[in-house]
Amino acid sequence: MKPVNAAHIIQLGYGKVGAPLVRLTVENRARIERDTGVRLQYAALVRSNTIALTDALAVRAADTGHSFDAWTPRAPGMTLAVLDPIFDRFGLPDTTQYVLVDVTATADTGPLLLEALAMGIPVVTANKIPLAETPGWFEQARAISQRSHTPFRYECTVGASLPVISTLTDLMTTGDTIQRIVALPSSSLSCILGDFNRGMSIEAAVRDAMRRGFAEPNPLTDLAGRDTLRKIVILAKTMGLSTSTEDVVQEPLLDQDYSDFAAFQGEGMARLASRLTAARQPGMVTYYVGSASADGAVALGLRSFPLASIWGTLEPSENLFLFNTSRFGDLPVVVRGIGGGPLLTASGVLADIIKAAQGQA
Ligand SMILES: NC(=O)c1ccc[n+]([C@@H]2O[C@H](COP(=O)([O-])OP(=O)(O)OC[C@H]3O[C@@H](n4cnc5c(N)ncnc54)[C@H](OP(=O)(O)O)[C@@H]3O)[C@@H](O)[C@H]2O)c1
Repeated sequence: MKPVNAAHIIQLGYGKVGAPLVRLTVENRARIERDTGVRLQYAALVRSNTIALTDALAVRAADTGHSFDAWTPRAPGMTLAVLDPIFDRFGLPDTTQYVLVDVTATADTGPLLLEALAMGIPVVTANKIPLAETPGWFEQARAISQRSHTPFRYECTVGASLPVISTLTDLMTTGDTIQRIVALPSSSLSCILGDFNRGMSIEAAVRDAMRRGFAEPNPLTDLAGRDTLRKIVILAKTMGLSTSTEDVVQEPLLDQDYSDFAAFQGEGMARLASRLTAARQPGMVTYYVGSASADGAVALGLRSFPLASIWGTLEPSENLFLFNTSRFGDLPVVVRGIGGGPLLTASGVLADIIKAAQGQA
């Protein structure tokens, strides 16, 4: 029997993804230990202003949902001081194995994640913002990870728990060359445009995406395409391109910036409807798609595809990723499925935590 590998989780964020992540971890850890040899326990849960130390509090948080009255204030900011009480309690990183998990939605965690990696603490993140929006962050994280063989895993930043990043990296690590990626990585835009392709009005399609929980509370966040932009930048960086959000040739879906959803409804919605109607062609479906090519071109915009192609088989909200590679030739590697939702994302993060604890980069 191989020795058990104990890993102490430090989790930043306890929101829509963070809460089910604690529950999934606590509920499944006996089986995880039996099947993988990884013993998972919580060192700390960290929110914007509070911290919960010890595994017992994490278990209680999993039981009681969002009850934080037993939690204590934490050091302000996002410096290593945040981790000090954790190291005081459980030991320094050279005596205790930690995994630092980012399930926040802020750029603020970026410097701390880099410092942790430099200290040899594996990092798992579902937070796209540092990777896509902070210049040089992704390249630094990857360089530190490769230099020190410290796992840096970010599977759930694109396609949630779908095997998108791992498929790409496996192809590349084994010597294949990625020639082109075409991706529909936004569940909300897939839902809205999928409904529209099936004949629903754009107003009804937006309402349907909101009702089914695919759209943000403010659907303009989705329609402005920022989420898709971040994801295509992460895919492009993963395939080795030095792309930033500014380098992407983006054809915006909306005709202008709107201050809020109320300002968009009415004329803005009507202009979007007429644009999408004009793009409609018989026998075709239209989606808001990102692409990245080996020559460095990264683009985002409305594209039409034959109804008889794989695009015509998508269910509204489904994600689709097509990887053209040298070895696979004309037929792309395909990853598709539901690429969002708190529980699915939490399950993908948990899978990444287990792999990070096993030392998989
Ligand atoms: N929801 C999905 O389907 C999905 C899918 C794929 C990826 N993701 C990504 O997963 C991440 C989490 O999403 P979510 O929906 O769970 O977000 P959320 O509900 O807004 O939760 C964010 C959490 O982060 C905490 N937080 C904010 N700033 C912090 C800081 N500086 N230090 C520590 N904690 C901090 C918040 O704490 P307070 O409440 O105390 O402010 C909150 O607990 C996001 O990056 C998102 O893009 C989500």
